[in-house]
Amino acid sequence: MSAQILEGNVYAAQIKAEVKAKVQIAKDTYKIIPGLTVIIVGENPASKVYVNNKHKACEELGISSEVVSLPETTTKEELLSEIDKLNKNTAVHGILVQLPLPQQISDYEAEILEAIDPKKDVDGFHPVNVGRLGIGKDSLVPCTPHGCIKMLEFAGISIEGKKAVIIGRSNIVGKPMFHLLLAKNATVTVCHSRTKDLADITREADILVAAIGKPRFVTSEMVKPGAVVIDVGINRIAEKKLVGDVDFDAVKEVAGAITPVPGGVGKLTIAMLLYNTLKAIELQYNINLG
Ligand code: GUN
Repeated sequence: MSAQILEGNVYAAQIKAEVKAKVQIAKDTYKIIPGLTVIIVGENPASKVYVNNKHKACEELGISSEVVSLPETTTKEELLSEIDKLNKNTAVHGILVQLPLPQQISDYEAEILEAIDPKKDVDGFHPVNVGRLGIGKDSLVPCTPHGCIKMLEFAGISIEGKKAVIIGRSNIVGKPMFHLLLAKNATVTVCHSRTKDLADITREADILVAAIGKPRFVTSEMVKPGAVVIDVGINRIAEKKLVGDVDFDAVKEVAGAITPVPGGVGKLTIAMLLYNTLKAIELQYNINLG
């Protein structure tokens, strides 16, 4: 039997509806116009598409959005100075530095992310937010893994007591996903490139998260019948062809539920960025927007 397809648009719309209500309360009750600034350095075409999509989503929800485009040759000092200005600008509630950074400053990525005010860190990449997530304190949480959890909740898929397996240990997805699933009382295993007998582990999963960046890496033999499969991968295999980390056509015949690529988790990432912008306002003003 074919799996339930978890359409990103459906769940992103639910998240956006929540955010829209908060934008209204911010504006009406607190006279705050939510503001997000995205910094993009250089000319990476995929990054430009992502940033443009983020900008459009903000406009759709009444969030004031600015894109700061800096040249490829920008120095670390120039980027830090831009971040400093935004940290001090009270009309800017969220700051995001689009990754990857150009080669000459990519070595300083950690220092650059650490320069963002943790209360404006809508990516949830600042060590303060990473640490707070780890100890279960209220924080700004990375958008993609948090969006996956929201999707499971909206879809009525319970997490408590389930065996969850994550393939990939990145700071952006794998590690925060571990903390989020653990906080929801799953039993969580994180696999990576050095994991031995990977398929034996993934076949145990009730919830399988693929975040490795290898096209169609997860095959049907690696999936337990009825499992929930979340595909975080976005791999370009031809000019106009995007595929995930999961062999969708084969795995959907085994899984109980599965996210498609495109049209799955990617939609949730942007919705959660908007969610985090409103969350950032709550943290900065110590208010509750409902
Ligand atoms: N590049 C790809 N994904 C992301 C993300 O979630 N945040 C940032 N800042 N850059 C990215």
